[in-house]
Amino acid sequence: MRILVTGGAGFIGSNFVRMLASERPGWSIRVLDKLTYAGRRDNLADLESSGRLEFRVGDICDPAASGSAVDGCDVVVNFAAETHVDRSIDDPAAFVRTDVEGVRTLLEAFRASGGRLFLQISTDEVYGSVETGRSSEDDPLAPRSPYSASKAGGELLAMSFFHTWGVPVVVTRASNNYGPYQYPEKLVPLFVTNCFEGLPLPLYGDGLNRRDWLYVEDHCRALLAVVERATPGRIYNIGAGEEHTNLEVTGTILELTGADRSLVRMIDDRPGHDRRYALDISRISFDLGWSPSIRFEEGMARTVEWYRSNRAWWEEIKSGRFREYYMAMYADRLAAGKSVEADL
Ligand code: NAD
Ligand code: TYD
Repeated sequence: MRILVTGGAGFIGSNFVRMLASERPGWSIRVLDKLTYAGRRDNLADLESSGRLEFRVGDICDPAASGSAVDGCDVVVNFAAETHVDRSIDDPAAFVRTDVEGVRTLLEAFRASGGRLFLQISTDEVYGSVETGRSSEDDPLAPRSPYSASKAGGELLAMSFFHTWGVPVVVTRASNNYGPYQYPEKLVPLFVTNCFEGLPLPLYGDGLNRRDWLYVEDHCRALLAVVERATPGRIYNIGAGEEHTNLEVTGTILELTGADRSLVRMIDDRPGHDRRYALDISRISFDLGWSPSIRFEEGMARTVEWYRSNRAWWEEIKSGRFREYYMAMYADRLAAGKSVEADL
């Protein structure tokens, strides 16, 4: 088996590559990654130097880079994307480029190569905000941020290649991931590392938005099952059934890090902030026998421990250009924010 993992230097991609490297010793692994601000070649340095994988720096929007990376591969797993909702509100163009146009470019390369499976990694955010119940794969899509709209475009294009030319495509829609190697712009790593640094925790709005929190290792195990056993043309939800408000997530992080509650600040909300996502995962459980195995408390304890023991990893990120992003995103809102100790 020869597998191409695009976006393999990012959070979920690098966790997936690690799982493949240790659990599928006979597989040959190639990574294609543009190394944007979110991609770190160091995340896979040990595997690269031991010759366990081939690493290529390249953009999925570039037909030559996509074409040569796909060449000879049986399976392509496309993690490559712009992924942060807040950044998509500032600059939608980068999202349309990679998450739509990049997917088309990679799909065309794959179609020409005649591979066995193209797995497009999508998100539960394509369903939009779900006030009650759980989203099933056949529900209509109603994305509401430039990020989720671009991801919806990418997966619709992928399915169009299946329907039009019979290209063997599968789409997965996962809920919010957390775990090792997540770039500290996202809620969990931002709050964990801010706790370690004694910095404020900027909670948007009333802190009552809900997400289904999926430990990254559970997600990767589901994707492995999809790669090995899914039927082309299928779409699979992947969630943990661990629904928690942002306030609850914050409380768990404070407890695990031992940080002071006075760090929490209620700040101006994200524009168009989706209130809730929730997934029905019966299809993947029934078809592929997958179910999540790591509970929220355990996953969060492991995650906090990883950031505690890998301080150099995130300190290097947070001391670089991340600082400018952080100041632009948070400085004014934090200055006007208020304390919420009573709610925790
Ligand atoms: P990430 O931001 O940590 O990593 C994205 C990776 O893609 C980086 O290594 C980056 O360098 C690379 N990349 C970006 N643009 C590229 C391009 N044009 N060409 C090649 N490489 C490029 O993202 P993540 O959190 O690991 O998410 C991976 C995938 O999973 C994304 O498709 C995302 O939409 C999806 N997803 C993420 C979550 C989550 O909670 N993080 C949940 C559901 C789905
Ligand atoms: P995030 O990690 O950005 O993932 P997504 O927006 O894709 O779900 O955010 C998770 C939740 O946390 C979301 O409801 C927004 C909220 N949030 C904050 O309250 N403060 C923050 O600083 C961040 C980054 C997110």
